[in-house]
Amino acid sequence: MASSIIGNWKMNGHSALVAEMVGQLKNLVNQVGEGVQVVICPPFPYLDLLQKTVGDAPIGIGAQNVHPEPGGAFTGEVSVTMLQEWGVTHCIVGHSERRLYFGETDDLVNQKVKILLAQHIQPILCVGESLAQREAGIQEATVIGQLGAALQGISSEELSKCIIAYEPIWAIGTGKTATAQQANQMHSTIRHKLAQLSSDEIARAMPVVYGGSVNPKNSGELLQQSEIDGSLVGGASLKPQDFCQIIQSSQ
Ligand code: PGA
Repeated sequence: MASSIIGNWKMNGHSALVAEMVGQLKNLVNQVGEGVQVVICPPFPYLDLLQKTVGDAPIGIGAQNVHPEPGGAFTGEVSVTMLQEWGVTHCIVGHSERRLYFGETDDLVNQKVKILLAQHIQPILCVGESLAQREAGIQEATVIGQLGAALQGISSEELSKCIIAYEPIWAIGTGKTATAQQANQMHSTIRHKLAQLSSDEIARAMPVVYGGSVNPKNSGELLQQSEIDGSLVGGASLKPQDFCQIIQSSQ
């Protein structure tokens, strides 16, 4: 399976970084070929510039959020058709920062996944447990619960178009990565749940990527794990050289 390396800029970056990042990525994506799918998810204001700068290079255009309604009186929100106008191919949903700071529930995440699939934008569905949940030994139950709720009412065919990102909350932005074994174990649990929701064949073909303090030093070992199909990179995706090294380490 091709690896997916996805950069989540969060509320960071600027126009000059779009040009710098894409400039470096264009050469690299040609070198690595179809074995690696690269996606950049900048804040909304840079999506238009990103699309124009990427042109026809094989680099995915990712958003960080979407509203589940097609339009209306939702001040400050962005609809799926607006994302399409920006050429968006992917969209992060259910990130723990949105669940924590913006009160996003499993039900809302489920609605967002559905509207994205209906409009052919690939959801990057984030799941992951808190430190307290891991210490209580309920990390697998937590992640399985999040997956079941977020993917409720979605057909196997639609499910096959999702990317799942396992991001343990205690590893995000903390410099503490899950060990390669911890991550691989959870990815295997995730794939088992995906098989229950669809089929073994679909679950095997779906990208399940890891996120949480991924950097050029630890990415090689993580990406070598049998169940890890790529990474969702936060901080290191703001540094073109680091992001390029992570892409290279996925080969
Ligand atoms: P991080 O963020 O790489 O800075 O830990 C990952 C994420 O939240 O997507």
